[in-house]
Amino acid sequence: MSQPKRYTVTAALPYANGPVHIGHLAGAYIPADVFVRYQRARKRDVLFVCGSDEHGAAITLRAKKEGISPQAIIDKYHHLIKESFEAFGISFDIYHRTSDPLHHETSQEFFKNLSEKGVFVERESEQFYDESHQQFLADRYITGTCPKCRYEAAYGDQCEKCGSSLSPNDLLEPKSTLSGQTPVLKKTKHWYLPMNHYEEWLKWWIINEQKDSLKANVYGQCRSWLEQGLHERAMTRDLDWGVKVPLPNAEGKVLYVWLDAPIGYISATKAWAQSHQKNWQDYWKSPDTHLIHFIGKDNIVFHSIIFPIILKAHGEYILPKNVPANEFLNLEGNKISTSRNWAVWLHEYMQDFPNQNDVLRYVLMAIAPETKDSEFTWKDFQTRNNSELVATLGNFINRTVVLTNKYFEGYVPVRKDCTVLENKVLASIAEQKSKIESLLEHYKFREALYELMELARIGNKYLADTEPWKLFKQDPDLVKTILNVALQISANLAILMQPFLPQTAQKLAKMLQMESLMDWEKAGETEILKNPHCIGKEELLFSKIEDAAIEVQVQKLNATKHTSNTNLSASESVLKPVKTEVSFEQFTSMDIRIATVKEAQKVPKTQKLLRITLDLGLEERTVVSGIAEFFEPEQLVGKQVCYLANLAPRIIKGIASQGMILMAEDPQGQLYLLAPQIAIANGSLVG
Ligand code: 2FM
Ligand code: ZN
Repeated sequence: MSQPKRYTVTAALPYANGPVHIGHLAGAYIPADVFVRYQRARKRDVLFVCGSDEHGAAITLRAKKEGISPQAIIDKYHHLIKESFEAFGISFDIYHRTSDPLHHETSQEFFKNLSEKGVFVERESEQFYDESHQQFLADRYITGTCPKCRYEAAYGDQCEKCGSSLSPNDLLEPKSTLSGQTPVLKKTKHWYLPMNHYEEWLKWWIINEQKDSLKANVYGQCRSWLEQGLHERAMTRDLDWGVKVPLPNAEGKVLYVWLDAPIGYISATKAWAQSHQKNWQDYWKSPDTHLIHFIGKDNIVFHSIIFPIILKAHGEYILPKNVPANEFLNLEGNKISTSRNWAVWLHEYMQDFPNQNDVLRYVLMAIAPETKDSEFTWKDFQTRNNSELVATLGNFINRTVVLTNKYFEGYVPVRKDCTVLENKVLASIAEQKSKIESLLEHYKFREALYELMELARIGNKYLADTEPWKLFKQDPDLVKTILNVALQISANLAILMQPFLPQTAQKLAKMLQMESLMDWEKAGETEILKNPHCIGKEELLFSKIEDAAIEVQVQKLNATKHTSNTNLSASESVLKPVKTEVSFEQFTSMDIRIATVKEAQKVPKTQKLLRITLDLGLEERTVVSGIAEFFEPEQLVGKQVCYLANLAPRIIKGIASQGMILMAEDPQGQLYLLAPQIAIANGSLVG
């Protein structure tokens, strides 16, 4: 592959509706950062852009949930995300945001350009409208029954149970999530991208220009979309949050978020170019530029099909050269979920493990879901740190530096006669460098990291085999040779680890006093450190992570299984529509009271039932409740609950159940107790 003149590298714009977690990092940001750092190390012109995606239902739904305005949501999360990335060392040239006026201008101009070229088909159609809120309903604002699997809380664009891609009209018994009412159909005009017109071209382009370089997972998704045939897709929405459609007679309409978001890469480039006296067009319109999009698998269709069609339709832009998408990372056996708080949040990791960014980088690269979903566990995190970073890489460097200081006052000793072993070890330096380069050029970051560590393993084994600490008295010249070889490996490791472990590379460069020698082109050489170069004092590169620190993390995660969580994500929650209206009298006829759980036991021969005795102040009541999957009986004893006291009694498994303990159920079906915020007298009325 010939070298392009420059690279434009993008990493998916995260929605500003929640903090960044390890799934995001492993999916897009770490591989992109490794790639970019590698290209920079090779002195290639590379621009790395990202920013917050601040439009679409992801934002408005979150705002609704937190009870604050969309603007407050994006301000809160944009800054949190930007600062976390910075502190973690993701080296964007710019982290922009799509609420910036420059982005609104850029995406409006783009839309106008396409509109003037006659690319869009304007069409009136009937769409769901919530009469009480006087609002057209975006796909995510409609739920109903999936026509395929009968799941009752499918969204207007997708059923999260069976994975079917849907349109709101497909839903049986659609309901508005705003009011819970059945929406009506109302005529509205939209601008559609006739993707079907580009189908032949896209097939040609993917097969002729992309197939050989695309990863199998990306190519597979493209092929399956193309096999199903492309259709028209609306590029505008009836919403009051987003980039306004820049045409007359388009009142109340905004650009589809998946049209404006990828244009966000362009506006970020413009903003960067303005402040760096550069020409943004070099990075988007020059055929000498390679455009690379790093994303997670849920974004493949948008970057491999829809955005290329949009760029092609415009005509002046280059098309993506590659779309290295990763699969998903799971956490301790479950899907990472913002709504269930089942995640390791980047900002929290950095607080809990200060100065250990490279440890997380290392582990997430080592287990990266490059070809299939993979899994993060805290135990594996600890093992990889203790046995790979500490016991292999750290141990090798430490021995080398300590012995050089001890025997030669830090001066690099001269290498004398090399045996077959030394020659073999020295030859492996260039071999490892070339393997790492080739793997990085082909987006195989996990294997590239393996080959970097292989060099550390070679060094570690060399010292373990030659045992220079036992030889100094009898053969000081041999020790000089051994430590010289070990120092050359160490110097090469410092250079080659820069894309992968940037903080450690700096630390090591300082320890070896080789800051001015950190040139990638030097790697592979066997005389980077030459006498009379003097190295610095030893410092530990990594430290052991103890069981207690891991236990804290595991408990933190487990606690989230049982606690209510306010971190609901719009994209993951399935809100049930509001039920049919009741009168005030019907409401007040319910007798809800505070009670304390006195006893709780499993009902024998059942999986789900607990028999619970409640203290209701003046009397005791027995309730049979189907909550054994969510609570251990002993967890409940002593807790105050809300209790519906006048529900007609029922016999369940031979026990008279009087009334009902009230629970909240989250969209994933997890149950939570509703308790008063402070202890109050049993029997107190709720209403
Ligand atoms: O899936 C997401 O999180 C989107 N916000 C990604 C957008 S990538 C690009 F198109 F901006
Ligand atoms: Zn379904």
